Amino acid sequence: MNAQNFMTTPVTSLQYDIKDINLAPQGKQRIEWADREMPVLRLIRERFAAERPLEGVKLVACAHITTETANLARTLQAGGADALLIASNPLSTQDDVAASLVADWNIPVMAIKGESTDTYVRHVKAALETNPNLIIDDGSDVVATMIKEKPELISNLIGTTEETTTGIVRLKAMVAAGVLTFPSIAVNDAQTKHFFDNRYGTGQSTLDGVIRATNILLAGKTLVTVGYGWCGKGVAMRARGLGANVVVTEIDPIKAIEAVMDGFRVLPMKEAAKIGDFFVTVTGNRHVIDKEHFEVMKDGAIVCNSGHFDLELNLEALREMSQPAVTRRPFVEEYRSKDDKKSVIVLGEGRLINLAAAEGHPASVMDMSFANQALSAEYLVKNKGTLEKGVHVLPAEVDQEIASLKLRAMGVSIDALTPEMLEYMSSWETGT
Ligand code: ADE
Repeated sequence: MNAQNFMTTPVTSLQYDIKDINLAPQGKQRIEWADREMPVLRLIRERFAAERPLEGVKLVACAHITTETANLARTLQAGGADALLIASNPLSTQDDVAASLVADWNIPVMAIKGESTDTYVRHVKAALETNPNLIIDDGSDVVATMIKEKPELISNLIGTTEETTTGIVRLKAMVAAGVLTFPSIAVNDAQTKHFFDNRYGTGQSTLDGVIRATNILLAGKTLVTVGYGWCGKGVAMRARGLGANVVVTEIDPIKAIEAVMDGFRVLPMKEAAKIGDFFVTVTGNRHVIDKEHFEVMKDGAIVCNSGHFDLELNLEALREMSQPAVTRRPFVEEYRSKDDKKSVIVLGEGRLINLAAAEGHPASVMDMSFANQALSAEYLVKNKGTLEKGVHVLPAEVDQEIASLKLRAMGVSIDALTPEMLEYMSSWETGT
């Protein structure tokens, strides 16, 4: 069956580009399964269907094409948006999900797991051809491409949202360079996003990816967490739970103290490189594992990345030091040194291991992340033309509302401030 036959309304010159439309039935089952763990997004979808706050808005969402993203897309569509989805990473697409979005929801998708960088770039450019009013970005590639290559599209843009820490760092660099001339919502900065998605989501899904790829026991192994931001904290915490001896490396003295006081050993990378069995990079920076580190690693050391881009490991240097890589299992490549003395194993080509070898963060945390995305889209449309250019965060009440809805869905009740407490919190006279 030809996937192209399914579309009723052409969206771009490419329309859509997916692996195989016949995968749709499995994708639909999995999307609905994830939806059971996304009660907050479901409530927003029901309200959006009634109120249609995104009616007629042309929206491009650049995201990991997963079951959870599919439920976000359904929500945006329920709100009236004309949404087009593209992959935010060449290795993270779930092809059955892409098929189901096209076949079951009539939402165009351009994403194929394993697509080349050229195809990825072609999809970004084709998405921009739709002249979107809203862009939901994940890593800021679409926004950066628009600013560099299609600045004329900015006049039609209401605003953008950004999912990741990495993307927000890029947006701030755009502000500093004076090129961010529209409002952008830093979804990652909402507490209901990074406290949960980055920590518990990355923590669980990264180890899930490492285990699915290698099937190696972590108990008793030394696992080096490179970076102790919210993602690093999650990886370290969950690796310890599986019995690994966790070592942390950092460049920020405050985060390093946190790691020490959380009970982890903190070492410079050059030292950690000598003792690690596993290495997980979560820094958002370039070449945090470099040639000098590969050189001193133990035979059989396993390295992977769970940060947004695939530049955290200097794989060019590793390739130069090694014989041609040998694939040992899916997502597992062995780089044997030229002198034949030792190997370094790279997982998932250095791309996000939690999405390359596993399925990304579980739905329960993406529920809050994507509730933030949906409400940010609504906020941008409601405040069209009134928001200053630059990087914004959603109002704190929205964060509180998402948290309250999540707690209710989890069946957890909490206390409220009594009038006496409220009075005390707003007074200054009472002291010693
Ligand atoms: N980022 C990390 N995990 C994800 C998921 N399951 N869906 C979309 N984006 C993600």
